[in-house]
Amino acid sequence: MMNLGNVSLKGFIEIQNLKVTFGQKGNLVEAVSGISIHINPGEFVSIVGPSGCGKSTLLNAVAGFVKPSSGKLLLDGQEIKGPGADRGMVFQQYSLFPWMSVRKNVEFGLKMAGKGRSECESAARTLLGLAGLLAFENHYPDQLSGGMRQRVGIVRALATSPQVLLMDEPFGALDAQTRVVMQEILTNMWQRFRLSVLFITHDIDESIFLSDRLYVMTARPGKIKAEIEIPLPRPRVPEMADSPEFLKLRQELHTLIREESLRAMGGEIQEGLGGFDVEVGPKGIKELI
Ligand SMILES: Nc1ncnc2c1ncn2[C@@H]1O[C@H](COP(=O)(O)OP(=O)(O)O)[C@@H](O)[C@H]1O
Ligand SMILES: [Mg+2]
Repeated sequence: MMNLGNVSLKGFIEIQNLKVTFGQKGNLVEAVSGISIHINPGEFVSIVGPSGCGKSTLLNAVAGFVKPSSGKLLLDGQEIKGPGADRGMVFQQYSLFPWMSVRKNVEFGLKMAGKGRSECESAARTLLGLAGLLAFENHYPDQLSGGMRQRVGIVRALATSPQVLLMDEPFGALDAQTRVVMQEILTNMWQRFRLSVLFITHDIDESIFLSDRLYVMTARPGKIKAEIEIPLPRPRVPEMADSPEFLKLRQELHTLIREESLRAMGGEIQEGLGGFDVEVGPKGIKELI
């Protein structure tokens, strides 16, 4: 736990020298290696990196679904030994129960935690109201748009008052316009709840718009390549994406991630592009004429 004056905030995550290896001897895949990062209580931290670099593995380790091969994971000083109600999850795939109404989906975690019927109902309705979904409380997931379903997913993860929200590319399946609206809704809800967020994305603009701080990962085995503070003021508004600070961050991140994406594709892309008489390096593609 971290003490800020006389307020003690929870949701402090420390990852120390994390390594995760999958598979058996002779067929080992090192997914992440030497990862040491932290998330301060109430901080919004994103992880960006190329596909397959181990982002989901890292998040699943914090969730308690994946066991570290070595290293330590701590939440408020306690070792993470498995999943728990102190960490809410939102995935890219809609993980709502299709046979339950929107409100029942949100109530589910509260019921599991032993809350009474009327308490569940009023908590669910308050949260649905904040997310602009109260009018849909009796609808079923397949009657909602993708954006609405993901909003229900977020509300459901928040319902049990976790200290930490873990989000794995939650807007990855949404169209660009819906995505931007969802990012704004998420920052608004996060400001209200003040919980720690670990957010995974491969979308550079999204990571800048949402985060206080972000980590860039290398190609697999994923290590931390860079840590970047996002000094943009809060609340964030879409117009900020055109500001000089935003553009500078975007360019910096593009360069960092491009190097890793090319490395992740390895020989494949060298050969593929070689066939078109172009030279590929970390800075991009250069024609060979
Ligand atoms: N349960 C698993 N068993 C074996 N290999 C896995 C498992 N989960 C992930 N991997 C491997 O670990 C690497 C990192 O995967 P992942 O964390 O899903 O990357 P990302 O989310 O960055 O795309 C990949 O090579 C993937 O195939
Ligand atoms: Mg992933």
